[in-house]
Amino acid sequence: MENLISLVNKLQRACTALGDHGEPAVSSLPTLWDSLPSIAVVGGQSSGKSSVLESVVGKDFLPRGSGIVTRRPLVLQLHKIDKGQEYAQFLHRPSEKFYDFVAVRREISDETDRETGQTKQISSVPIHLSIYSPNVVNLTLVDLPGLTKVAVDGQSESIVQDIENMVRAYIQKPNCIILAISPANQDLATSDAIKISREVDPTGERTIGVLTKIDLMDKGTDAVDILEGKSYRLKYPWVGIVNRSQQDINKRVDMTSARRKEREYFSTVREYKHLASRMGSEYLAKMLSKHLEGVIKSRIPGMQTLINKTLADLEAELRNLGKPISTDAGGKLLMIMDICRGFDQIYKDHLDGIRSGGDT
Ligand code: GDP
Ligand code: NA
Ligand code: MG
Repeated sequence: MENLISLVNKLQRACTALGDHGEPAVSSLPTLWDSLPSIAVVGGQSSGKSSVLESVVGKDFLPRGSGIVTRRPLVLQLHKIDKGQEYAQFLHRPSEKFYDFVAVRREISDETDRETGQTKQISSVPIHLSIYSPNVVNLTLVDLPGLTKVAVDGQSESIVQDIENMVRAYIQKPNCIILAISPANQDLATSDAIKISREVDPTGERTIGVLTKIDLMDKGTDAVDILEGKSYRLKYPWVGIVNRSQQDINKRVDMTSARRKEREYFSTVREYKHLASRMGSEYLAKMLSKHLEGVIKSRIPGMQTLINKTLADLEAELRNLGKPISTDAGGKLLMIMDICRGFDQIYKDHLDGIRSGGDT
């Protein structure tokens, strides 16, 4: 059976490719896109979102800086390959493979500006980036602009509200898993991530709490109560993280040593030793991949209904085109239909599994 996450990834790309270019107006596409399970990263500015994402990927590739750096959603699809050199690919530049991750960072930044016209405004049109590597787990994450309280850099006052609305629009979808990032050196009661996720997921069913900057807590305090779920209860256990500090970044501490230091931190600091096996970036990456796959499995029946509806719409659209389907639009329609049929097969396998008493 094809990997479930990679199948959903394909659907996501196909929906964007068709939707973005406004070619055939297939009415069920936006609904299908909205129903695809994904993981969205939310948190206040400087809470450590970029650091967590890079650490989950195991590579430095995100634009950095102060102010509102992430101004468009970044849909990040990680694909595990058996061997070979790792590379990145953008949906908006499909024929290019990026082997240099400094160039990836530059392209994210340039592509952000292309849409927002260097005005430092935000846009809800996502950038799609795929990373193919033997060192990643299959996973899809959406990086969203950081929540902020004040406009800077000559941005209009409305940007604060605009960001909040964009984040809310993503995380209120019932199939969205919320990766809520809060820094340990601030009071949890003031966490932007907790505040907004509680709004859309009051029972904490689909929120995964991540606590960053544990190394920066005041002397004499620790995060044990939070990490054990006693301060703010969520369905899934909290994950503690120690990312690179700004000084580490300035000194160009690489990802491998950063991960090693993080492992050492949790296994040697007395307060956290008993939690060490479920702390840190590597644990987070594996846990998220398993979790996403589980959510996709549980949503297959609902997605199947929508996919059938989309398939019917696509077939009608194809008939309407009424010309040789070698056109760009026709080609894309055929591609997405192919993917939908792939899903159909998975659904049948899934049902067979249930009938034969398997645990699929
Ligand atoms: P974002 O704005 O949420 O994307 O936050 P960043 O990932 O850019 O992090 C903001 C700053 O906090 C950077 O200087 C990071 O080096 C630093 N930082 C993030 N996480 C940690 C951490 O766990 N420990 C320490 N010491 N610094 C961190
Ligand atoms: Na926060
Ligand atoms: Mg950031």
